[in-house]
Amino acid sequence: MFNKHLIPDAQNLPEGKALNIKVAEYNFLVTKQKGQILAYENLCPHQKKQLTWSSNPTLDDDGDYLKCHHHGALFSPIDGVCITGPCQGSHLKKATVGIEQGNCYLLFA
Ligand code: FES
Repeated sequence: MFNKHLIPDAQNLPEGKALNIKVAEYNFLVTKQKGQILAYENLCPHQKKQLTWSSNPTLDDDGDYLKCHHHGALFSPIDGVCITGPCQGSHLKKATVGIEQGNCYLLFA
């Protein structure tokens, strides 16, 4: 059984931007890349800490990578792989995004 949670204004999320979404005790990073909405658990594979929180920017200074604000790991927003940092080569856990009647939803068990 999946939980379904609306991602508010996902369709209006600017290309290449990312935001934090909190659902119950879970945190997700949601980004739009090449017109596609992608989501990852907001949990760094290095020390299992939240990469970022609402008061911090989610992306690096150039806006190209998802950034962990603890030790600076950078992750591709396309596939969640860590391209540099202490967990290089590991991945963010991808979350399932569904679209229903034009709205985007996070789907998780
Ligand atoms: S906890 Fe993310 S880089 Fe260390």
